[in-house]
Amino acid sequence: MSDTVKTDENIDGDKRDFIFIATGAVAAAGAASIAWPLVAQMGKAADTLAAGSIEIDLSKIAVGQQLKTLWRGKPVFVRHRTEKEIAEAESVDVSALRDPQTDEERLVPNAEGNLERAFLVMVGVCTHFGCVPVGEAGDFDGWYCPCHGSHYDTSGRIRKGPAPTNMVIPPYTFVSDTVIKVG
Ligand code: FES
Repeated sequence: MSDTVKTDENIDGDKRDFIFIATGAVAAAGAASIAWPLVAQMGKAADTLAAGSIEIDLSKIAVGQQLKTLWRGKPVFVRHRTEKEIAEAESVDVSALRDPQTDEERLVPNAEGNLERAFLVMVGVCTHFGCVPVGEAGDFDGWYCPCHGSHYDTSGRIRKGPAPTNMVIPPYTFVSDTVIKVG
C-alpha cells in the first residue's frame, strides 16, 4: 500500500471540506488554500491495514466538516453533522422513503450504548452506478451524485433520482470515546 496521499480533485473537484487520505497515510496534499486537518491512522501496522480495518479519530473533524478516507479501496465519508443536519435527518417521514430507514438505524452506539448523532459514517459510493457523490449538495442538504442526478439527505438516504438504495453504512465500532474502527 502506498503511503502517498491523494487529493480528491478527481472525485469532488473543489470541495474544500473533504479530506482524502490513502490508507496508512497521515500527510496532506492539495491546493495550498485548503486547510487539511490531520487524521491519524493511529499507527496501524501495514498488515492490519491490509486486513481491511482503519481507525479514525472523530475529535479531529470539526462540526460541518467531512473526512473522506479509504477503506478496502472504497471512499468512506465521516461527516460531523451540524445541529440543523441532524434535525433534518430526524424529521423525515421514513414511510415515504424509497429505502426506509430511520436516522438512528444508520448510526452505531458508542461504548456507553449512546448514539453519536453528530457523526455519520458511510461508504461514499452512489448506489446507482458507483460514482462518488458530492457533499453539501442536492435538494436535501446531503449529497448529490452528478453522474445521473441522485440526491441523498443528511443521513445519506436516497431521496430523489435513480439510485435504488441509501448509501451503505460500513461495519464500524467505537474503540474509545472518540475513535472508531471501520472494518
Ligand atoms: S451513479 Fe450516481 S446517479 Fe448514477
